[in-house]
Amino acid sequence: MNENILIAVAWPYANAEIHVGNLTGSHLPGDIAARYHRLKGDKVLMITGTDSHGTPVTMSADKLGKPVEEVYKSYHEGFIELFQKIGISYDLYTTTHSENHFKVSQTIFLALEKNGYLFKKTEPQWFSPGLKRFLPDRYIEGTCYICGTDGARSDQCDACGNVLDPTKLVNPKSKVEGDTSSPELRDTEHYFIDLSKLEPDVKKYLQDRSSYMRDTVLGESLRKVEAEGLKPRAITRDLDWGIPVPVTEAGWETKKLYVWFEAVIGYLSAPIEWSQVSGSGEAWRDWWTNPKAKQYHFIGKDNIFFHTSLWPAELMGVGSAFMEIFTGEKIPLILPYDVPANQFMNLEGKKISGSRNWAIWGRDALTRFDPDAIRYYLTVNMPESKDSDWDWAEFVARNNNELVATWGNLANRVLAFCYKNWDGHVPDVPFDTAQGALALRPADLELLATIENGFNTVGAELDAVRLRSALGEAMKLATVVNQYLDVNAPWSAIKVDKAEAGKTVYTALKAIDSLKVMFAPFLPFTCEKLHTYFNYETPLFGEQYTETVKDSLGEHTVLRYRATSASGQRPDGNNTNAQWIPSDLQPGKKLNQPGPLFKKLENEVIDVERARLGK
Ligand code: MF3
Ligand code: ZN
Repeated sequence: MNENILIAVAWPYANAEIHVGNLTGSHLPGDIAARYHRLKGDKVLMITGTDSHGTPVTMSADKLGKPVEEVYKSYHEGFIELFQKIGISYDLYTTTHSENHFKVSQTIFLALEKNGYLFKKTEPQWFSPGLKRFLPDRYIEGTCYICGTDGARSDQCDACGNVLDPTKLVNPKSKVEGDTSSPELRDTEHYFIDLSKLEPDVKKYLQDRSSYMRDTVLGESLRKVEAEGLKPRAITRDLDWGIPVPVTEAGWETKKLYVWFEAVIGYLSAPIEWSQVSGSGEAWRDWWTNPKAKQYHFIGKDNIFFHTSLWPAELMGVGSAFMEIFTGEKIPLILPYDVPANQFMNLEGKKISGSRNWAIWGRDALTRFDPDAIRYYLTVNMPESKDSDWDWAEFVARNNNELVATWGNLANRVLAFCYKNWDGHVPDVPFDTAQGALALRPADLELLATIENGFNTVGAELDAVRLRSALGEAMKLATVVNQYLDVNAPWSAIKVDKAEAGKTVYTALKAIDSLKVMFAPFLPFTCEKLHTYFNYETPLFGEQYTETVKDSLGEHTVLRYRATSASGQRPDGNNTNAQWIPSDLQPGKKLNQPGPLFKKLENEVIDVERARLGK
């Protein structure tokens, strides 16, 4: 049964490079899921983009002394380069700084207002007497009123993990360079979304999903809402940079939509932009107005509230009003199906920190390591249920002992042995007419049955977004093939009986050809290479490319994904061209010259890489 799957990944802020923790937290699991569902024949749309507004971005521009537009764009281009190099196959990677996103966000605002979920309220906000302007939350630092830690951001405390009421911050200080005046509270008017009115809906939404949502996610959402309830939240800010509040009254020109309010709307605006740029008009509705579509949010644990409470609340508050304003049809948008949020990845036992350079930056790591080697380690160490740790010694060991020794060498030695001894062809196993099948031995058939069943077991783990375990299952099957080869040793059997050795080689090749598909969502580069050794015409995956989109705000680069062959073509162009099914390898098939898939790493790497940290 084919499904429509929206893979929605958290929008990275344009204020820092992306590191391995960000990759394993959201982009990589999203990509693995997207590639798996494409192979399965599901209709996949994988989207996100750069979170270009908000004070994290303006503060970073302030620090660099550069215009915010220039700063967001330079991070944006860097993200796109990284996603291309490490194979995060977004159907559309865009930015919140686009005309389309402005329009969709403003429409959501108007729809919420229409349905009575917004109200205006005047409240005290920190104001800098020195700068004569309001200081957004992130521009204020002080002592957390919950845990007492200094240096807490005013809207969230990293030490205790609580979302804070900024006005309650103790001993506030301005973080603007050179602003030594003491912040004081002054009144300012803002729009609020009445989350308390939507609280019963949010609770029910989460209860409906509690049988399959991760326990860590329910702990941060359902159990929290049950214990603390939901309070109204301001959705506008006193800021220059961002999306204008769509009201005409005087006084609102200097205010913008709150970045979290609008960034989550990107999950709706990006599919709409994708439809526009791919010339498929209303195709976005396959993931948004089709009640059978499934939406997954791949995010890190610090984003849980916004995805399990704020965003569904916005959608439930909007009801049919978005479509009514946008297209004139009174139909509701669907709600996200699951939020498989990950915990954090630490680095050599310490929290990753960009400012202290205690980090492994994606683009930098790719100058020294192959993308699949990084993807492998990030998947076996994915913080799915608890925080994990990137350890350089473990990286080298698992690369060498698992990726190279168990899987890479298996594929390489069988293919190379076959290529050399069977003249570049798959061995010709005779057909047993009495059996109506190839004349294979019981052990061969047993191995192939085990591998075939892997499509169910590995697939079940992937369906449930247990990616570590899915990859572990596939690796176990590679071990089974190695054991089969140890027992049947075609390298010696060939000297006695080439036909018997041929049966072993055929069986092993067929198993490898199937494992290639199971490994493909995790290791797309090397599996694609392996796929060419098997000499198939249609590649496993499509290709990534960039494009420039022009609109009234200027232009922005987008990263896209397209299939490279006509097979499996869908009318909207985003096709699948391979199947999540066992290999049908034919005896006698011509092969291509094989080569190694992975590189063994020297132990020196460990010290060299450790020495880079914290410098
Ligand atoms: N920019 C946020 C972060 O990096 C994530 C935003 S996700 C969205 O933590 F849903 F709000 F877009
Ligand atoms: Zn705290």
